[in-house]
Amino acid sequence: MSPDQKDAISSSAGAAPPRRQLYGRAKGKALRAGQSHRIEQLLPKITIDLEKLREGPAAQFPHKPSGIFLEIGFGGGEHLAAMARAHPEAGYLGVEPFLNGVAKLLGAIEAENITNIRLLRGDGRHVLNALPKSSLDAVFLLYPDPWPKRRQRKRRIVDEAFLDELARVIRPGGEFRFASDIDDYVGWTLARILPHAGFEWVAKSPSDWLDPWEGWHRTRYEEKAIREGRVPSYLRFRRKA
Ligand SMILES: C[S@@+](CC[C@H](N)C(=O)[O-])C[C@H]1O[C@@H](n2cnc3c(N)ncnc32)[C@H](O)[C@@H]1O
Repeated sequence: MSPDQKDAISSSAGAAPPRRQLYGRAKGKALRAGQSHRIEQLLPKITIDLEKLREGPAAQFPHKPSGIFLEIGFGGGEHLAAMARAHPEAGYLGVEPFLNGVAKLLGAIEAENITNIRLLRGDGRHVLNALPKSSLDAVFLLYPDPWPKRRQRKRRIVDEAFLDELARVIRPGGEFRFASDIDDYVGWTLARILPHAGFEWVAKSPSDWLDPWEGWHRTRYEEKAIREGRVPSYLRFRRKA
């Protein structure tokens, strides 16, 4: 999402108001008929039940998931769908406020009959707040909105409170995985997470951040970043025991 699209939205229902406002676009161009149909018919069937989430994320799925993973701000859902396809035995939660992104992922879910994804159109922080302690195996935050201007940086989703919530919901030994093409956001994240008592950076070599982790699937924003000559960084942080 472009940082200068600054109409603020708040589109989550049924949860306490977010601690901070949700910034960014709620919608783009008009949906096609099939997309609108899926938003009306399919989305309610696979929407995350925030109340039930408090009892644990496994109950959101029709099967007993072998592991549970959350992607915050999945955009068009390329990475989330790829993970869900590759690991049908696991459960995937995805949160995204942008209607057109949700519609795109619903198209893939329907076309490929993917059954192990549950979604919320809204604020990822609502889902974090509703999850019980140590209930996730990993959280993915891929190409978060960069808010590059100095006065906009306080809009960035990564802050101390966000990291505290991640540390609460990720089980010991689980991971927080972060990717960005904006060096300043990478530095911003490292500056906040390295002193955090709950996480350690899993870097195997000095150039570790240049290589995507195993199972990585390229997102739409990454494709754009690479086309425009920016270099992605990939950071993995382990939840300390
Ligand atoms: C730059 S885009 C990247 C999308 C996708 N991860 C990719 O790599 O293609 C950032 C996304 O984060 C979403 N977003 C922004 N704030 C969010 C929040 N509080 N919770 C969940 N998603 C959010 C935006 O709507 C947008 O789709």
